[in-house]
Amino acid sequence: MARQRWASRTVFLLAAVGSAVGLGNVWRFPYLAGKYGGGAFLIPYLIALIIVGTPMLILEFVVGQKMQQGAIGSFRKLHPYAGGLGIFTMISSLVIVSYYAVVMAWSVIYFLASFGVQWSDNPKNYFNNSVLQISDGVNNLGGINWSILLCLTVVWILIYFCIWQGTKSVGKVVLYSVPLPVVLLGLLLLRAITLPGFLDGWRAYLNPVWSALVDPEVWTSAFSQIFFTLSLGFGVMITYSSYKQEDDDIARDAWSTAIINSAISLFAGFVVFGILGYMASQTDTPLKELAASGPGLAFVVFPEALSLMPLPWLFSILFFVMLLSLGIDSAFSIVEVLNGAILDQHKHLKLSVVSFWVCIAGFIAGIIYTTRAGLYFLDITDHFLTNYNLILAAIFQVILAGWIYGVEPLRRHINQVSDWRVGKWWNISIKYVIPIILTCLLATQLSKDINTPYGGYPVWALGIGWAIVLIPLMLFLLCLLNDWRRNIEV
Ligand code: TRP
Repeated sequence: MARQRWASRTVFLLAAVGSAVGLGNVWRFPYLAGKYGGGAFLIPYLIALIIVGTPMLILEFVVGQKMQQGAIGSFRKLHPYAGGLGIFTMISSLVIVSYYAVVMAWSVIYFLASFGVQWSDNPKNYFNNSVLQISDGVNNLGGINWSILLCLTVVWILIYFCIWQGTKSVGKVVLYSVPLPVVLLGLLLLRAITLPGFLDGWRAYLNPVWSALVDPEVWTSAFSQIFFTLSLGFGVMITYSSYKQEDDDIARDAWSTAIINSAISLFAGFVVFGILGYMASQTDTPLKELAASGPGLAFVVFPEALSLMPLPWLFSILFFVMLLSLGIDSAFSIVEVLNGAILDQHKHLKLSVVSFWVCIAGFIAGIIYTTRAGLYFLDITDHFLTNYNLILAAIFQVILAGWIYGVEPLRRHINQVSDWRVGKWWNISIKYVIPIILTCLLATQLSKDINTPYGGYPVWALGIGWAIVLIPLMLFLLCLLNDWRRNIEV
């Protein structure tokens, strides 16, 4: 059967941008900027984007497009023993999408609650006690929260119908689901700049605190944010670019994706801080505190800010539709990694059937986060997955491509097909800069986690986190060993 293809180059670009632009842009980026030095955070962020993020994106694009295979197949073509790296990224993808979908399920609940602005009395209480019905600790599972499970089912049905025909249905969906959240962000921005206090919010956003630049944590956060926001490491961009023609442009698409994604992050920062500025002026809460509220930003602080506005229901609906339409293309891009890899290996299977079972698997894997201790598990999983699996997967990839396969043939391929040339600097970035920076990130995180157990969770709960890192890692090594042994035997 002929390989699936994108309907056009624009559709590919929309799909790649759709994957990159997600919760990471509206929620994670503004809160990191607020926490780590305001405008000064932009310096490590932009440096990370240029010297690490975009080169890595170019690498994923060229690997997928040149090899014309999903994650497992492409890695195998880079080296016959490297299929196990595909297993590592596939398991990690399944885990990430399983909880990403749960965050979307919360957004569905909030979308429904927007019609009556149900949280307006006490947003924090509403989130913890009405939506999550959170238990008193990770030790107490507290049973399944059925309304979250129901919304999770809805989210997975939506995801299924976006991907069930592969590039064909994805191509149709992204035409709407990528521009829509940007338009909604624009409307929210217009709302923000007509409210008192928005300028104070922008000041807090952009006012640089230069002393932040000497804090290593600011730098590590900027680098890991770039990896998260560009959907690198888990093979999303490899899979997507494998549906392009072998001789399509690479460099310009990679730079476009990276620039559009960061522009949307910066833009979202203006919206978030503008509205927080208004909220600070209404409630006497210091802006810094509001912005650095972490995971609570989207589901506690922001709903509260929305409820203070004139026409709160309207802007709440806009905000949560924005969040959902933003999240969905990131979520299904991860599912596509699994679909792509499975279909490469089993060509006789039907796309819609594989998609169905992958969605079922993702749904089942997410049930744990719908318990009343779900938020704790989500927090632990997110911590280990983004700080270890993501970074490890990226390190393995640059070693595989840069040192084992060789960067020069890849760079030659890019320059043969691209309008914009990629210079020798790219080889240096892939071979030296990225692996060194990522190893430093990994080492700092590891020493931090060993010295102070993350989030004060009990040992058994953190054990689950470590298992999420170590089980795929072990499977990777076993595959490697197996491939190697088989090769010796023949
Ligand atoms: N980039 C998405 C965001 O910013 C998240 C995401 C989608 C992702 N696919 C990924 C992160 C793959 C890491 C790996 O929300």
